[in-house]
Formats: sequence, C-alpha cells, structure tokens
Amino acid sequence: MTTTSEQPIVILISGGGSNMAALVRAAEREGWASRYRARVAAVISNKADAKGLVFARDQGIATGVLDHKAFPSREAFDAALGDTIERLGAGGKPPLVLLAGFMRILTPGFVQRFAGRLVNIHPSLLPAFTGLHTHQRAIDEGCRYAGATVHRVTAELDHGEILEQAVVPVLPGDTADTLAARVLTQEHLIYPRAVARLLAD
Ligand code: GRF
Repeated sequence: MTTTSEQPIVILISGGGSNMAALVRAAEREGWASRYRARVAAVISNKADAKGLVFARDQGIATGVLDHKAFPSREAFDAALGDTIERLGAGGKPPLVLLAGFMRILTPGFVQRFAGRLVNIHPSLLPAFTGLHTHQRAIDEGCRYAGATVHRVTAELDHGEILEQAVVPVLPGDTADTLAARVLTQEHLIYPRAVARLLAD
C-alpha cells in the first residue's frame, strides 16, 4: 500500500490577512485535505498585532510571530523565519510557503532555501508597478485597468513566473483606497485558484 505524504501550507502575513483567510476558507470549502492531501499548517506574522493572527487562531491553525526588529540583520531574520516555517510546517512534504500581504523583502538565501515552493500575491498587473503604492501609481499614470498577480517568488522583488492574474477597471473618481478594495476582492479569488492548481499538479 502506498501513502502520499501530506502537503503542509504555511502562510506569511503582516496585517489584515484577508488573503490568508480567503485561502483558509477555500481549503475548507473545496476540501483540499481530501482532494490534495494539503492543509494550512501554520500562519506566521512578523507583527504581533497582525489582525490575521486572530482569525488563524480562531480556526485552530498554529501561529507564529517573529518580530523582524528583534534581529540584527535581514539575513538573521530570514534564517529564523525559515527555521520557524520548517518547524511549524513539518510532518509531510516540504512546506509550500504563501506570502499574503507579507511586507518584508526576502534575502536571496531565503528564496533559495524555499526555491520552487514560494508564491506571492501582488496588487498590480505585473510586470507593471512592482513595489509599493501600486494603486496610487496606477491612478497617477492614467491606467484604465489595474489588477493583481499571483506569481512565483524569485530573488528579484515582484518578479517570477506569473501563475494567475485578475483585471479590474479604474473608475473615474477612484482613490487608492477604492481601487485597492476593488482589486482585493479579486485577489481573494485568484490566490486560492492559483494554489489549488499548484496542488493539483
Ligand atoms: C493585498 O493587497 C496584497 O496583495 C498586498 O497587501 C494587501 C494585503 O492584504 N501585498 P491582506 O493582508 O491579505 O488583507
């Protein structure tokens, strides 16, 4: 008899965690446990007051907090983060690591450690508008359309193979906040869809 080992998923957040919650709800709704032998094993935040941690704990998901300010260097933080991911995501295949509003730039060493298993969601139509303030920049440029991208993570910020995208219109009178809210509703659809496709492969 052969048994396929489980695929742990570890989600990294820094704030509200609505993308993380969308992933957790999709895993539940779509039966990722039975369909893909995958489960959200842990949610890790670099901020102790990240609201998403409350949701994760309420769901009975293991959580970890690692304050980047407590580390002497980016490398030291990333090494400890990697150890925490491996500890909380142990017990099956090497964990799939999903960045969901995780507001840290990762070192090449960290990306290498989780090579092929790191995925991010970015609130723009990559390759346009890497980095911060994507919605205001799209408005300032007069873009008619904006959106979000799920992509694999490489050592270069907001680059890597595009796995899924969604497009929304930029409407007259939009502010960065109204546009961000419109994009976010799409993020909640495309992130779980992209991950389910990876799990099915
Ligand atoms: C999302 O727009 C995500 O794409 C960006 O930060 C926001 C985080 O939202 N990187 P949440 O924490 O998932 O609610």
